[in-house]
Parts: sequence; C-alpha cells; structure tokens
Amino acid sequence: MCKNIQLLNDDFLQDPYRDYAHVREECPVYWHEATAYWWLTRYDDVHFALRQPQFKSARLHALFDGIAPERLSRFTPLTRLLESRLLLTDGANHQRLRSLISTAFAPRHMDLIRPVIRQVIEDLLGEMQGRTSVEFIREFADPLPSRVITRILGLPAEHYEQFKSWTNDIYQFMGVSPVDRTTRAEIASTAAVEIERYLDRQLDDCAVGGGPNLLSVLKSASEAGERLSRTEIIANVVGLLNAGHETTTNLLGNGMYLLLTHAEQAQLLSHDRSLWPSFVEEVLRYESPVQIIARQLSEATEMHGVPLPAGANVLLFLGAANRDPRLFWQANQFDIQRQGARHLAFGFGPHFCIGAALARMITVEAFACLSKVWRSPRLAVTPRWRSYPVFRGLVDLQLHVTWQ
Ligand code: HEM
Repeated sequence: MCKNIQLLNDDFLQDPYRDYAHVREECPVYWHEATAYWWLTRYDDVHFALRQPQFKSARLHALFDGIAPERLSRFTPLTRLLESRLLLTDGANHQRLRSLISTAFAPRHMDLIRPVIRQVIEDLLGEMQGRTSVEFIREFADPLPSRVITRILGLPAEHYEQFKSWTNDIYQFMGVSPVDRTTRAEIASTAAVEIERYLDRQLDDCAVGGGPNLLSVLKSASEAGERLSRTEIIANVVGLLNAGHETTTNLLGNGMYLLLTHAEQAQLLSHDRSLWPSFVEEVLRYESPVQIIARQLSEATEMHGVPLPAGANVLLFLGAANRDPRLFWQANQFDIQRQGARHLAFGFGPHFCIGAALARMITVEAFACLSKVWRSPRLAVTPRWRSYPVFRGLVDLQLHVTWQ
C-alpha cells in the first residue's frame, strides 16, 4: 500500500528521495489522486516509456486545461508558437523539426560556442571580482546559460533582457501551477505576439558568418527546400531558451552545492582535473535538474499488471529513476568515479535533450574556471531547495570566496 505523497509539502521538496524510494519499491505504477497522473519511478519503466511511441509528448491541450473553451481562440498566437515546439510534437513532424534544429548543434557550431562560453564566464567573474561574498545563483548560475544562449542565437546584446522577459512569460504559462491559468495565458499570448514580431525582424536582418549565429543557421536550414517555416523557427528559438536556461542554472547550482558538501570528492577533483566531466555527470544523476516529465498515452498499455487506459496522463520521475538501486550501486551516494549505467537526466529516445552537449560544455567550463580563480569557497548559509517539484534547484547559494 502506498502512502499519499504531497508534492508541494516542504519535507518532500527539501528531500524527495525517501518518498521516491517508497513509491519505487511499493507501487511502481502509482495512481496519484491529487495530480490525476500515473507515476512511474523505476529506471527500467521510465526508460521504457521514453522509448515507446504510445507515450506521447504532444500534450498542448493539457496546458490549456481549466481555461474556458470559449476563451481559447484568444490564445491563438500562443498555441501557434507552442504547437511547433520540439517538446510538444511527436512522430514524423517531430523528426523533421528535430533534424533541422539539430543542425544548429552540429559539432562544427559547438566548436565556435566554447570561446563564447569562456567569454561570458570571464565577464561574470569580472563583475564579482575581488568580493568575498557572492550569491552564486543570482550572480553566476542564472545569467551564465541565458547569456550564452542569447549570444549564440546571434541576438544583439541590448535586446537580451527584453527577449528573456518575453520567453519567461511563455515559460511561466507552461509551468504546472494551476494558479490563475487564464491570466498566465493572456500574458504569454501577448509575449508570443511580440516575440514573433521581433524574431521575424531579426530573421530578415541576420547575416550568415562571423561568430556562432544559430538564427542564421536555422534560417539557412529553412531556406534549403523550405522545410522549416518562420513560425517553426521562432517557436523553437523560444523553446531553446526556455528549455536550456533554468535547467542549466540548476545544474550549476546543484554542482557547486555538492562540491562544497563532499570534501573527499572535491579533493579528488583538485588532484585530477580530468574528472570534471565525470563530476558533472554525477551531479546530473544525483540531483537531476529536471525531476519529472509528462506524457499522455495514445493507447491502453499494461505495466506491472496494472492496466493504463488510453488517454492516461503519466509522470516519468527522472530523479527517482536516477537513484534506482537496481541500476546504480549505492545509489544514494555521490560518487564522481561511478561507472556503469547511464543516468536519464537528459531524457532518452526521440526527445533526448538537444542541448545536452551545450549544457555539459557550459558546466564543465564553468567549474574548471572557478576552480582556478576561487580558493576553497565555503557555504555561508545552508541553502534551501526551490518549491517546484518538476525542477530541482536551489533558491540561492550564498558563498564566502577567496580569489587566487
Ligand atoms: C529536452 C533536460 C539543457 C534544449 C530535454 C529533456 C530533458 C532535458 C530531460 C527531455 C524532455 C522530454 O522527453 O519530455 C535538460 C537538462 C539540461 C538541459 C537537465 C541542463 C542541465 C538544455 C539546453 C538546451 C536544451 C542548454 C538548449 C539550448 C532542449 C530541447 C529539448 C530538450 C529543445 C526538446 C528535444 C525534443 O523534444 O526533441 N532536456 N536540458 N536543453 N532540451 Fe534539454
């Protein structure tokens, strides 16, 4: 018998892993009354669901649940942008969009991105230079990925804040919180109109060549046979910032916290710098920035003898799968030298994170650089985890630092 898990309860938010273990062992296919979702928490089941085509990502209608049908037509600009997003498409349409958008992340473009990342890290450190007290999330982990992504898109620096604010309005609407969905939809729809107008102009003006410029890469991809419409480019440019910002911020913050609370692992890193990539992988597994993703079943499916009907909404708990002891030896230990099974922090299958290489590059570069400029950073205050169960990240992270 499974206990009733309170997703928004502070005990759960601060440490969800005890409840994950309980559900994973006692009820691998768990009907959660309060959210009206089926939960899958075992690694093999989450891995299965991520590969099977009947677990659909195209759930646009679910985002508008609770909004009166007669109001829906007012949100056409928003639905137009959302329905072309990779994350909300499936099958042949998803494959077409994904093959074109992934050209922007081809290795030749990634090579141009590394110097941009280093420059942004240097700028951020320059802004903090000499201070002994730093709020790591606000001053480093939050601005780093958004500045990198907007810069590699090729948008002018003076537009960053406006662009971030529009994308944020759309992102807020996509959050799971049912609070005031109609107002959120109105704000997001206004942002969708403005962002579409803005990016349309940028696409007219953008020139090929120079530094990395994903807009021009996407424009060329679209012009070669008109396989990617303007709306599809715009939808996915917004999608890149939405999908890549907070997730990477969480990875950076979680990584710094784990580094400062696991002295023996930090010691290993100080002796062998080649361990930074394994450190980042273990942070992704141990405190997965995305804890939960959603799917909807297009046909009835049975799992562990439990019949799941067509239309059932399902939550896949990446954070629980990544601590499953069936796959990970001493799963609750943070061990940067871990070998064996791959974590699912970037998902798996057709929707595997398109920005995984970028997120890894940003994070490895950041830690390699910070380890050179800061001598023995220390936690000033024990941080708290944010009160949103879908993502795992810290509210803030106050540090004492000494500069080398
Ligand atoms: C998809 C995690 C960074 C862009 C995903 C998925 C996960 C994920 C779990 C699969 C979602 C699903 O199957 O429903 C993460 C984490 C990140 C990160 C943990 C950082 C630590 C980024 C970055 C970008 C990005 C930096 C781009 C700039 C995307 C896109 C998709 C995606 C576009 C949708 C792919 C598709 O549907 O085909 N990400 N992500 N992500 N991610 Fe990331």
